Amino acid sequence: MTLKFNLAGNSPTNLRFIETERPVIDETREVLASLAQNPPRLSPKYFYDSRGSELFEHITELPEYYLTRSEAEIFDVYLDEIAEALGSGDIIIEPGSGNCSKVQPLLERATPSAFVPIDIAGDFLWEAAATTALTHPNIAITAIAADFTQEWTFADEIPQGRRIVFYPGSTLGNFDPGAQRGFIKQLAKVVGIEGGILLGVDLHKESTVLQRAYDDAAGVTAEFNRNMLSVVNARTGSNFEPNSWQHQARYNDKMRRIEMELVAQSDQLVNIGNQTLSFAQGEVIRTEHSHKFTLENISDLASAGGMTVTHHWLDRQSQFCLALLQTA
Ligand code: TRP
Repeated sequence: MTLKFNLAGNSPTNLRFIETERPVIDETREVLASLAQNPPRLSPKYFYDSRGSELFEHITELPEYYLTRSEAEIFDVYLDEIAEALGSGDIIIEPGSGNCSKVQPLLERATPSAFVPIDIAGDFLWEAAATTALTHPNIAITAIAADFTQEWTFADEIPQGRRIVFYPGSTLGNFDPGAQRGFIKQLAKVVGIEGGILLGVDLHKESTVLQRAYDDAAGVTAEFNRNMLSVVNARTGSNFEPNSWQHQARYNDKMRRIEMELVAQSDQLVNIGNQTLSFAQGEVIRTEHSHKFTLENISDLASAGGMTVTHHWLDRQSQFCLALLQTA
């Protein structure tokens, strides 16, 4: 993101920044354990070093990757309705807020009293939250640096009032179905019976459109996928050869998910910690799942949290869905 202001280390008065303590994890052990699964896996958290974040921003602008544009179009077309459905004075909570760009239309139009961005990348979060605080002096911002996929031990820091969790970008689809339900339950608890969840998810559709979105002609997604191996090398001291792996993204119609993989282009040995792993040519490492949804799926998820879908909006081509879940 670009910083619009020179903050000179001064915190805007409407910004409170909270760093949570994070357990120290042995990433070498974690990587070895996930590679021992069948198929071998690597956690998507290793996508995002600074190069990975840059590549991801580039993905969101690709002609084939319609998700970001479709969601933005829904906000463009239905912002008044969405704001009306939410009401005013709410507390908007955004897990995985990144550069805080997606929430801007809501902050402008829905006039919340408070905004709570939560992100694992502390420095990036501070910049994004401080910029948002300066541009929205009437909104109290509590930025929380935390891993929101773990238990919300920081929940007491969230201001009281009607709470709305904003969870866009089909990020929910990157969890497996059991974890999706678990996460919705967690969010339902955080927002309580008065609150709501504003959820953006990508819809199930013809597989060629989906596959192209995750395997673009310019090869940006391929590079994003391979970059994970460089991140793993930097974090664990392993010696993966990123160029010896090929990007693959296929839609599994039965599971309704894109499966992103890296395919070994030759037989190879990789040192990680005190182990040497061997990969045969053609062997795969699974790096990401991106589940696609039907309207029925979304209703089922809502009921996992004791909620119902009270509103939903689609883009003109019905590719993407923004749903508001509330307790009936
Ligand atoms: N949640 C989005 C999606 O599933 C963004 C995303 C997460 C993504 N991991 C990705 C996009 C890997 C491309 C590749 O589409």
